[in-house]
Formats: sequence, structure tokens, C-alpha cells
Amino acid sequence: MAKNKGAYVKSYSRGGISRRDFLKYSSMAVSAAAFPNVIGCAGYKPRQDCQNQMAQSSSMGVVHDIFAPAGLGPIKTRNRIIRSATTLGLVAKDGRANSKLTEAYIELCEGGVGAIITGSSAVQQSGISTPYGLTLYTDDNIKDCKLLTERVHAYGTPIIMQITHGGRQTRRAYTGETPVAPSPIKDSYYNEETPKELTELEIRGIIDSFIAAIVRAQKAGFDGVQLHGAHGYLLSGFLSPATNRRTDQWGGSTENRFRIISEIYKGARKQVGAYPILIKINAYDHQSDGLRLEEAVQIAALLQEAGCDAIEVSCGMSCDGFSTIRVTSFPSESILAYSYQYKDSPYLLKKLFPLVAPLVVDQHEPLLNYNVCAAREIKQRVQIPIVVVGGIRYRHDIEQIIGGNMADFVALSRPFIAEPDIVNRFKNESLAESSCISCGYCLMAIEQGPTRCFHGELS
Ligand SMILES: Cc1cc2nc3c(=O)[nH]c(=O)nc-3n(C[C@H](O)[C@H](O)[C@H](O)COP(=O)(O)O)c2cc1C
Repeated sequence: MAKNKGAYVKSYSRGGISRRDFLKYSSMAVSAAAFPNVIGCAGYKPRQDCQNQMAQSSSMGVVHDIFAPAGLGPIKTRNRIIRSATTLGLVAKDGRANSKLTEAYIELCEGGVGAIITGSSAVQQSGISTPYGLTLYTDDNIKDCKLLTERVHAYGTPIIMQITHGGRQTRRAYTGETPVAPSPIKDSYYNEETPKELTELEIRGIIDSFIAAIVRAQKAGFDGVQLHGAHGYLLSGFLSPATNRRTDQWGGSTENRFRIISEIYKGARKQVGAYPILIKINAYDHQSDGLRLEEAVQIAALLQEAGCDAIEVSCGMSCDGFSTIRVTSFPSESILAYSYQYKDSPYLLKKLFPLVAPLVVDQHEPLLNYNVCAAREIKQRVQIPIVVVGGIRYRHDIEQIIGGNMADFVALSRPFIAEPDIVNRFKNESLAESSCISCGYCLMAIEQGPTRCFHGELS
């Protein structure tokens, strides 16, 4: 039998900071100071030879033209700079594709993007973790998605649908389910919600939902799907030993923790044949007993064996703070202004929040190119294309990453929010670096609807 830190979380909704939350934060601040590993600060240090390679002024390997068409597995991209999955808060409330989202993607196409990965799309209604994400858990949305993919294809740009289940990061505020009281003491891997152990039947149901979503994505004209296997959502929750405490066939060894993904690949291949199925995974998650790069390398080999078409390398989960999406400084102001949990907080708590929260929530360094060395090690182990995301801001760095054979593609998220035409501007050399300052405000704003670049100011 599995212990209580199952891979799936049920969530609850909450308005403002309650006294209970305040006490929780205060106690977490104390425990963070006293027991740093409890809240997850086991570091990842890139190898020195990789850091040296990144620091060189010219690339060591074959100089690829980063702007030439390339093969992301079977998908022909316009160049090697991809828009990483980014929820923009533009989708209609029922998760349908609409004209606002289409226009945002057209802007990226006109700006020269190599390929677009959509924001995360829930495979089950009970697995929604992000507001206003696309959904493809019923056939009803296929028609609208088809209109979207046709418009994007008119620019010769491939579009890949990212599919996900929120797992322990599911939010009841968005699934419409009855709130469940949080239990931060039971769950030291705190992420606002109380994990619930999945039954065998539920796991099988989720696998079927992933396969059904892949079939729908193909019908809707997407060039492929990307399984969201990173950032602490369900598949990543299974992969990480920090959050998967199961002792049945779905937990324990690497192969067991990988089983849910391998079952998705097996089942999907029977239905969609060679249709491209990519994945985004974490290389590490900063938890004291969490996923390490050495194991992520093994997982990459298992993925290749399972028939994965390409791997995007990321890091982190919500309980390790600002690791996935690194920020220059803790974005208290935007959290208080936009987060559904905090925006209606009482005056005193709003005053205390900027003082307490940065003590509790980890911030990670470096801010630039933070997954490149991990991607490089994964690339050395497999032959399928490797995409790297995280803090990539300079044209020169992109040349270095691709030319130095550290990854086959780069993926950017926030730079495309700041400058949707960044690829064309890199190409015509009117821009050498993104204007994104990694303030993180865009992330906070998706809870309120459409996001945009704030450039560190709430206006
Ligand atoms: C507003 C916003 C929304 C995001 N939505 C998603 C998402 O839906 N799926 C996903 O895998 N990552 C998502 N991310 C994370 C990015 O894909 C990327 O991994 C991260 O931002 C680091 O890349 P960057 O430094 O280029 O922004 C999001 C990031 C931001 C800022």
C-alpha cells in the first residue's frame, strides 16, 4: 500500500490570508531557518567544464545556423528557437481556443518563432491546475482547436499541444470541486494543497485520459503533443522520489515511477502510430530526497526506449519556490495584486507578506541559462532531440548552446511575452538580448486573465 504522499492532490479554494495561513507561513519560516532541507534546498551544481563552455566567447562545436529550419524529431520547425509552453490567460473560461489566443499565436508566427508549444491543457477536468488553459478532455473542443491550428499553419509554423494533469498541484478553485482542508503539516512538500493517494483505477483512468487527449490533439491538427512531465504536476509528481512515496508498481524504483509515462506511450502508439509525442521533464527539483540529474539522465534513456520524440529539459516544482521560473527578486507586489489567494488580504497581512514570504520561499540562482548544463548531460546520453528552457535571454548564448552541441533547440517563455517578434529581431540583429528582466509579474497575472509583460511595474 502507498503511504500518504500520493502523487495526486485535491485542492481547495481560499480567499485572502487566513490566520491559519499566517501561522503556517510563520512556522514554515522558522522551520526553513532551522531545517533548511525540509523545505527543499538541496542544490544542483552544474559541472565546471560545462560552465567553462558556456563562458567561452565562441562555440566549440559545429556552428549551426540557429535560424535555419530543423527537425524536432519528425516535426519540421522554422528554426531552433521555440516558444516554450506558456499559459497566457487568454482562453475562454470553458477551455476553448478563441480568437484572442489565435491572435497571440499569429503574432508569434509573424515574429518568426520556430514552433509553438501551447500552454498546458488539462486532460481531465479534475486535473486542472491553471486558470484559462486550453482543455482537450472532451471532443467538443476539437473544432475550435482545429481553427486555431489552421491559422498557425498558414505561417508554416508547427504547433504542439502541451497536455497535463495537475496532480498534487491541481487546484479545486478551478476544478469546481468541494474544498478540502489543507494539511501542510502532513505534507512537508508544501504546495497549498493536500495530496490524495490515487487508486489503481484512477491511475488507469488518467492514462486513458492522456491517450484520449493525444488522439484529439491529432484530430485537431496539432503537429504533436508534449506531455507535461515537469514542474511538480502529476507525471513529474510520479517521477520524483520526493513526492512519489508509493510502494506498489507505480512507486519505488526509477522504472516503477516511470511506469505511468511508459503506459501512456504504449497505449497512445496503438492509436496514433508515429504521431509526435514529446515530453518536458525536470532535470532536478531541489528537494532533499527529490529528483537528481543522474536519475533524470536514466529517465531520458527510458523515454527514448519508450518512443519519445524529443525531451525539453526544465527544473523545479512549486514547493521549491522560484526555481522553474527564476526571478530577480521576490515578486511580493505582484503576488499581492494578482494572486487569487492574496489579493483580498487584510491590510496587516499585506504589510507582513513581503517580509515573511521571501524568508519562506526559496529563490534560486543563476538567473540565466539555468538548465543548459543539465540538458547537455542528458543530450550526451540519448539520440533524440533535446530542447532546453530556462533563463535564455541572449542571442550569443543561443549560438553557444546550439553550436556547442549542448542542446538541439532552445525554448523561451517570458522573452516571447516581452517581445513576440524576438526571433526576427535576433535574426536581423536589431536585438542581441531580450528585454525581459525576469520580474515574474507575468506569471502572477495569469490568475487574473490575460498576461502581458509588466517589466517589473504594476501599472
Ligand atoms: C506566464 C507563464 C506561464 C507559463 N505556463 C506554463 C505552462 O503552461 N506549461 C509549462 O510547462 N510551463 C509554463 N511556464 C514555464 C515556462 O515554460 C518556462 O519553463 C519558464 O518560464 C522558464 O523559461 P523562461 O526563463 O524563458 O521564462 C510558464 C511561465 C510563465 C512565465
